[in-house]
Amino acid sequence: MAIGCKEHCHMKAILALTTAIAVIAVMGVSAMKDHAAPAPGSDALLKIAETRRSIRQYTSEPISPETISNIIAIAMLAPSSYGQNPVEFVVVQEREKLARLAACKRIGAPSVRASAASVVVMVDTSKGELWPEDGSVAATYLLLAAEQYGIGACWNQIRLRDGQRKSASREICELLGVPERYEVVCVVALGHPKSRLPPHRKEDIDFARLHMGKFK
Ligand SMILES: Cc1cc2nc3c(=O)[nH]c(=O)nc-3n(C[C@H](O)[C@H](O)[C@H](O)COP(=O)(O)O)c2cc1C
Repeated sequence: MAIGCKEHCHMKAILALTTAIAVIAVMGVSAMKDHAAPAPGSDALLKIAETRRSIRQYTSEPISPETISNIIAIAMLAPSSYGQNPVEFVVVQEREKLARLAACKRIGAPSVRASAASVVVMVDTSKGELWPEDGSVAATYLLLAAEQYGIGACWNQIRLRDGQRKSASREICELLGVPERYEVVCVVALGHPKSRLPPHRKEDIDFARLHMGKFK
């Protein structure tokens, strides 16, 4: 039986509509997959925690802007008190500025001086009293993120450390033009590792530090 033009056009429209619905459904499912948690049993974070070591010597290879941005993005996803996101980051890459940054800590910060880039982790103290914790959590994410991208990293303590004339934190804020309400928790030095250190191993963890239910 011959199909008239009207029916033919009608069928084409239905076909186009169902195709569009199917495409949107598939896109929806894959978008959900993108946001799904890692499969149960995945040990990706365990591997990163095991292989991460404090790396203090680096090659002269620069870190790509994309990698730096990805590392900072992960640190910006860290939880914060009251959800205030009070932690901010200044990335220093110029050699001369890295040397001046390292000198803001009286006892020095050799890994900062040697780094390809150093990230000053600072917190807006007007956003809450838990700023040392907020800065520390973000810095920890930074260390783990660097490991994921194969970048060596080292925490350089700044909070409670002396500078040449004032606290190390105040001297860094002056060097970088940071307002007074900010405090620097640490500077994380980054670079391509000159050499790797042996990984930590889950097997070596001293589980006597774990107390279930009560301290014993
Ligand atoms: C709160 C904190 C402060 C630290 N301060 C410094 C520092 O000022 N300079 C430094 O070279 N390493 C510093 N480190 C790195 C530790 O020395 C290092 O994590 C520790 O020796 C264990 O070695 P690993 O990181 O290779 O596992 C610090 C680490 C933390 C968590």
